[in-house]
Amino acid sequence: MIHAKNITHFYSKEKILNDINLEINKDEFVILTGESGSGKTTLLSILSTLLSPSVGEVSFGKQIKNLDNFRNQKIGFIFQFHYLIAHLSILENIKMVTKKSNFEILDLLEKLGIKECASKYPHQISGGQRQRGSIARAIINNPRYIFADEPTGNLDSKNSHNIFEILREINATIIVATHDKSVIFPSDRKIVLKDGALC
Ligand SMILES: Nc1ncnc2c1ncn2[C@@H]1O[C@H](COP(=O)(O)OP(=O)(O)OP(=O)(O)O)[C@@H](O)[C@H]1O
Ligand SMILES: [Mg+2]
Repeated sequence: MIHAKNITHFYSKEKILNDINLEINKDEFVILTGESGSGKTTLLSILSTLLSPSVGEVSFGKQIKNLDNFRNQKIGFIFQFHYLIAHLSILENIKMVTKKSNFEILDLLEKLGIKECASKYPHQISGGQRQRGSIARAIINNPRYIFADEPTGNLDSKNSHNIFEILREINATIIVATHDKSVIFPSDRKIVLKDGALC
């Protein structure tokens, strides 16, 4: 579980987040929405330990001894722009972050529908395929937590739905920040940020 307690965040003197309290249960799938500039990326960065809040704390249900290890082993990150390495194939990009065998990597790529992209470079495949490649890289080590920031930001609606279908099926605690209302199911748990607070 993730427990955010009294999170307040300032950039310079501007208060972006104001006393946010939030509990996210194990294996929950949560959508974080709100207008542009409402603080979604900031909150996601704080929840995912990339950014320390000005005030408050985030806990994961147990004491974390080494934050770098925790982040590397337990957290998967997915961003709007894929951040795959341009001069490595999709398979090589994933091999960079895992000790798993090629067989296991190819198995995951097959599940994500991009096995045929394994030996291709990021620029040789479509935006939707690239994003599935970055999802593969984020989930190959079975992280307990996944944070996705606008993972469908530059995709068409068919690819966006496909990405959300994939995310919903992953067995982990997942928080997705998106402004794309077309991908949100009525059954999804939604958290809405407005004026620095949850509503
Ligand atoms: N590093 C930073 N330094 C100063 N101000 C920042 C920084 N990052 C974000 N901000 C400001 O904080 C506010 C919240 O930004 P944030 O990126 O969290 O919003 P967002 O909801 O993710 O927006 P979007 O939907 O456009 O991605 C905005 O007013 C933004 O200009
Ligand atoms: Mg953002």
